[in-house]
This record gives sequence, C-alpha cells and structure tokens, in this order.
Amino acid sequence: MATTAPPIPRVELAYAPTPLLKLERLSAELGVELWVKRDDLTGLLETGNKIRKLEFLIGEALAQNANTLITCGTLQSNCCRCVAAVCARLGLRAVLALKGGRPAEYDGNLLLDRLLGADIKYCTDAEWEKIDETMQDLAARERAAGRVPYVIPESGATVVGALGYLACGQELAQQVRHGAPEFDTIAITNFSGGSQAGLLMAKQLTNLRADIVGIPIAWEAARVRAYVGEVIDRARSRYGFAVRPPAEVRLLDGYQGAGRAAVRRDELDTMLKLARLEGIVLDPVYTAKAFSGLLDTIRRDPRALGHRVCFVHTGGVFSVFPYRAALGRLVDGDGDGLVEF
Ligand SMILES: Cc1ncc(COP(=O)(O)O)c(C=O)c1O
Repeated sequence: MATTAPPIPRVELAYAPTPLLKLERLSAELGVELWVKRDDLTGLLETGNKIRKLEFLIGEALAQNANTLITCGTLQSNCCRCVAAVCARLGLRAVLALKGGRPAEYDGNLLLDRLLGADIKYCTDAEWEKIDETMQDLAARERAAGRVPYVIPESGATVVGALGYLACGQELAQQVRHGAPEFDTIAITNFSGGSQAGLLMAKQLTNLRADIVGIPIAWEAARVRAYVGEVIDRARSRYGFAVRPPAEVRLLDGYQGAGRAAVRRDELDTMLKLARLEGIVLDPVYTAKAFSGLLDTIRRDPRALGHRVCFVHTGGVFSVFPYRAALGRLVDGDGDGLVEF
C-alpha cells in the first residue's frame, strides 16, 4: 500500500541555479545593497520565469500523454515564446492563440515563435474576450486530428505553474545555506502573481527569511492578492503542503501605469540606467515597470525594504526589439512621452 504521495511530475528545463549578482554601482547610489537573481539567464530561448513554470506544466502534460501544448498571450508574449522553444526541444507541437492580427513583419518573440515552428492562431477581439473557450476549440481541433492537447492558461497561471517559483524559492534558500547573503526583501514582477505565490510558499516551507514583495505591472492590487491567495489555498488542498495565504500579500502598488498597453518615458529611462550602470537589460513591458517601482520605493524611503534587497529578473529581453523606434530615440537622447504597444 502506498504511504506517501506520488512525486509531482517535473521535467528539468531551466538552466539553474541562476546566479545572484550584487549591483555595485546602483547599490552605492541608493545606499541599499541591491542584488539581482538572474532568472533572465534560465536559458536563451527559454529566458525568464516561464520556463520554471513549464517544468511542472509540461511534467503534468507528459504524464497525461499530451503531445501538443496550447497556450495564449499577446503578440510579444514571453510565455508563448518559451512554450514554442520547449516544444521544439522536446518534440511536441505548439499552438499559440495570440491577441491581435498577423503583423506585416514578424519581430521579437513572435519571430522566434515562428522560427521555432509554432502554429499561430491570431485572435480577433471577440475570440480573445472568450479566450478559454477559444483555446478549448483549438484543443477540440487537435483531438479531431488525433493529437493529445494540454492547455496552459495565459502566463502559465495555474497552481501547477506556481510550483516553478516554489522551486525557485527553494533554490534561493539553498543558495543562502551555501553562503549567499540573507536578503531582507525579495521583489518580483507580478502579472498574475503566480510567481510571487510560489516564492511565498517557499518562504513557508524553507528557511528563507526575506519578505516576498510583488510589483504588479498590469492587474489591480486586489486582483493580484486574490489570485496569490487562491493559488496557495489550492496548493495546500491539492498537494497537502503546509502552506497558507499570508495575512498580507505585500505589494508595491501604483506602478501599473498603462499596464501592458504602453511604457512611460521614465520606465524606459530605468532600462537605460540599469543597462549602462550594470550591463543588465530589462524588458520594456514587465520588468522595466517593476524595477522602476522598486527604485522609486527605495529612493522615497531607503529603509522601506530593508538593507539588502534582491530583485528577481524574470526575463523578457526579446521584446526590446519590437520597441526599437522608441528605444532608439531614447538612446539618442530625444525620446519623450508615452510609448504605446
Ligand atoms: C518577463 C515577465 N516577468 C514577469 C511576469 C509575471 O509572471 P506572473 O504571471 O507569474 O506574475 C511575466 C509573465 O507574464 C513575464 O513575462
């Protein structure tokens, strides 16, 4: 008779552990030790946080004998590009439902999606409004063709996906055990909040002492908090983990701006600053907004997040290229205003 739970299916895909680097010049400027966990180095085509989620999502897909992954996102979705890359690596078929029409030219993540052989369904506004149904229709089409589909919601936002950041938090705890410094705060970019939920679970299950703080770049704080709580509750009931939603899910709120629809000049300035001061490139859609929020918080109150802060860089570098026009003006010193995507 089995006495222990079966292992959770996982396929190791990320190049991990990812490095922890101190930002020497920025730390000196801020008067706070600022570090980065380089989850933008989880792979080349697999750069970013999505590959960690996919280790568990694809684990589950393969356990269900799936041979086709279906997911959705914007035309420059990092998650979709990561799915396309991993499908090519593992010999699976990728079907991507993207928001918007086919552009005249492929660029950034979309160009990579196509290079990697993903099948693209461009969604009208009406199809995107009911994206879950649209993906179920795509799954039915795959089944009719004799394939076994597995559907991944936008951003890999499921309890299974969040396990990727539980694993990342365990990795961080292990890095600390092996001599990395203890952080007062670990800050991460939020879209859904699934990655933050994973780190919060790791904090409860390991000796990680740091406060886990999310920086929402699109959803309102209440929605992110509700999602984080829901994921942790589901992880407890599904896997029996000794975890519970924290009394307060800490967020740096108010930095969403126009969400994923546009980037502000000051956010692009942050990108430029980090690139030139430390040789690290943020992405204009997610991490530039979040890192701007982090710097703003520290500048307003250098003690707000403690003395030693670690920002988890969740990747996204390929979306630099589609925004070449605005970025190009900025590097030449004559950009201004809001850049719409
Ligand atoms: C670069 C980048 N950072 C952060 C996130 C947010 O991840 P989550 O949905 O787990 O909050 C995403 C995904 O949407 C992303 O592409």
